[in-house]
Amino acid sequence: MRTQVGIIGSGPSGLLLSQILFLHGIDSVILERQSRDHVLGRIRAGVLEQSTVDMLRAASVGERMDREGLVHGGFSLAFDGRMEYIDMHKWTGGSGVMVYGQTELTRDLIEARMADGAVIEYEAPAVAIDGFLDGKPRIIYEKKGERRELLCDFVAGCDGYHGISRQSAGPGSIKEFEKVYPFGWLGILSDVPPVDRELIYTNHERGFALCSMRSHTRSRYYIQCDLNDNVDIWTDDAFWDELRRRLPETAAQKLVTGPRLEMSIAPLRSFVAEPMRFGALLLAGDAAHIVPPTGAKGLNLAASDVHYLSRALIVYYAEKRTDLLDRYSDTCLRRVWKAVRFSWWFTAMMHKFGDEPLCQRLQLAELDYLTGSEAARTAMAENYVGLPFDRFE
Ligand code: FAD
Ligand code: PHB
Repeated sequence: MRTQVGIIGSGPSGLLLSQILFLHGIDSVILERQSRDHVLGRIRAGVLEQSTVDMLRAASVGERMDREGLVHGGFSLAFDGRMEYIDMHKWTGGSGVMVYGQTELTRDLIEARMADGAVIEYEAPAVAIDGFLDGKPRIIYEKKGERRELLCDFVAGCDGYHGISRQSAGPGSIKEFEKVYPFGWLGILSDVPPVDRELIYTNHERGFALCSMRSHTRSRYYIQCDLNDNVDIWTDDAFWDELRRRLPETAAQKLVTGPRLEMSIAPLRSFVAEPMRFGALLLAGDAAHIVPPTGAKGLNLAASDVHYLSRALIVYYAEKRTDLLDRYSDTCLRRVWKAVRFSWWFTAMMHKFGDEPLCQRLQLAELDYLTGSEAARTAMAENYVGLPFDRFE
């Protein structure tokens, strides 16, 4: 098989890239290791930045998001018996975020690609990539027990943290930066009304908690948990009891509980691989960087990578210009590192790292400062809604 852009991975970055390229007359084929049902069953991100929302609309996949998504102009920080509102709308001159599940977004993208006759090969793991440094890129993949090859002009490595794209670059050509946090997030999805109209991030002496949602009738809650916890030891009741203990009194009283639709544990990691381009192999999304979910940035960074990558490829095919491809990695990484910094900082301020009283008091002092200072609230709000894209043309 031959195509212009061979895409590995049908997560949000691979699908969105394929959709934008299609709208500009560029052919792509997506190879996905998992089945379509598996991809559609994953529960992950919930918060989209304004720039991600704009990209989805421009890519003709924003219709259901605009109908069903929830626009949020702020969120609350709960700590030390207090609940303080960060008014993003006010501190950013009118910006906000959209609460719309990654699961739904993935479904919208898959349906749009299928309707346009796209080739998405499911249960087709890429097993090797070669030729990307000498002008003959090739992806070897497996399908129905057979080895097959996909020849292309470019390989887009959109295969997440555990994919093969980054590893194919070779250890000598890549530099990795990593921090693994000593705890995880235990998340529950349940068909119960959310405890509040917008999100609540809680710093509590028993550990972090987050109240999020997918709709007015479906809630997503997280609690900080032990890294070694197995999800099987957590009953629904044990989850709700622990969450209730960590929430501010007013929220705890309003908490409606119900059976789980899903429960899972996510480890927390900060990770960046540099560079993001190796000849005709270009990395995007979680394949190149991971952030702890506290700042709600992972999916949004995947979208900003795709913004730059799609621009670079469109300009290459339209004008045979390679300067944007040359600038791709540096341009992405400038924004990536700022989001990595924000997510690390927000994580450090909100989670329990041990029993050291000094650390706990410093976190409370920082939260007190943050919620009391106009400058600090503005910095928090502008990072949460998403920093602007660099000019790239
Ligand atoms: P992925 O979604 O990981 O997709 C990669 C795809 O590649 C997968 O489908 C995988 O099966 C496939 N693949 C892997 N290897 C191969 C191979 N060899 N061959 C073929 N296919 C392969 N982000 C936010 O912005 N906001 C949030 O609110 C937020 N909340 C989160 C909450 C949780 C609990 C978690 C876990 C994450 C959250 N994130 C959030 C992060 C977000 O989910 C990820 O950043 C996002 O999924 C990245 O998309 P991606 O397409 O780059 O990678
Ligand atoms: C979610 O709804 O899954 C979610 C929301 C905000 C975050 C992380 C996850 O910071």
